[in-house]
Amino acid sequence: MNCLIPAFQDVPDSDVNSFNKERSSAEITFRNNISLPFSQPWEYNRKRGEKMKKIEIEQLDKNLISMIHNDWAVLTVPDEGKVNGMTVNWVQMGWLWNKAVVTVYVRPQRHTYPLIEQNECFSLAFFDDDQRDKLAYLGKASGKDADKLAHVGYTTTVRDGAPCVDQARLVLVLKKLAAMELTGSQFVDKTVEAASYPHQDYHKAYTCEIVAAYQKEA
Ligand SMILES: Cc1cc2nc3c(=O)[nH]c(=O)nc-3n(C[C@H](O)[C@H](O)[C@H](O)COP(=O)(O)O)c2cc1C
Repeated sequence: MNCLIPAFQDVPDSDVNSFNKERSSAEITFRNNISLPFSQPWEYNRKRGEKMKKIEIEQLDKNLISMIHNDWAVLTVPDEGKVNGMTVNWVQMGWLWNKAVVTVYVRPQRHTYPLIEQNECFSLAFFDDDQRDKLAYLGKASGKDADKLAHVGYTTTVRDGAPCVDQARLVLVLKKLAAMELTGSQFVDKTVEAASYPHQDYHKAYTCEIVAAYQKEA
């Protein structure tokens, strides 16, 4: 299995790739810890002819803040034989613990929340502007009530152990490194807490390693 390691070249391969070497490229572990072969005819094993090429994360050519704030993204997680996707734009991307990382923030009431808790790998997908309506739907409807990705016509392919949306412009495969629960006492600026958490439904933050990045070929 290939892994994104552009900044790790002075680190032995054995350390950098230990995660990927532990995971067989032929299987993925689901929320109930049952390993199933990729070849199962599941939704997220269907290839749809979208051409994605693996890139190094430093090759991103768009402004990160604008990508997250204005373009939004879809967090895509295995969900009992299907895949759930939820729109996010409270996201951080950077360099931490000698790794390229993304931190996503998930409120406890989201259908996505237990899925993120139970899965080690998931993905974050970015789209072209013409997909805005679909992202708005994925940010409003809940996977509790619908197969949202199917509803908007998105399909997924497992890449590096995570379901990735075939129709995305860019997909980051994420592996969870740390999970941190926000609490009211952590806020230095109480106006931020008051504005974002009037119901005290604090996000849980998941800092994840970007283990691979795939970009749609022009
Ligand atoms: C632009 C946008 C950004 C959002 N960002 C987040 C986010 O960062 N974290 C979060 O928990 N919910 C966020 N949401 C709300 C979820 O996407 C929404 O509640 C969704 O219906 C949850 O889906 P689920 O229940 O299938 O997990 C956002 C919604 C929109 C429209």
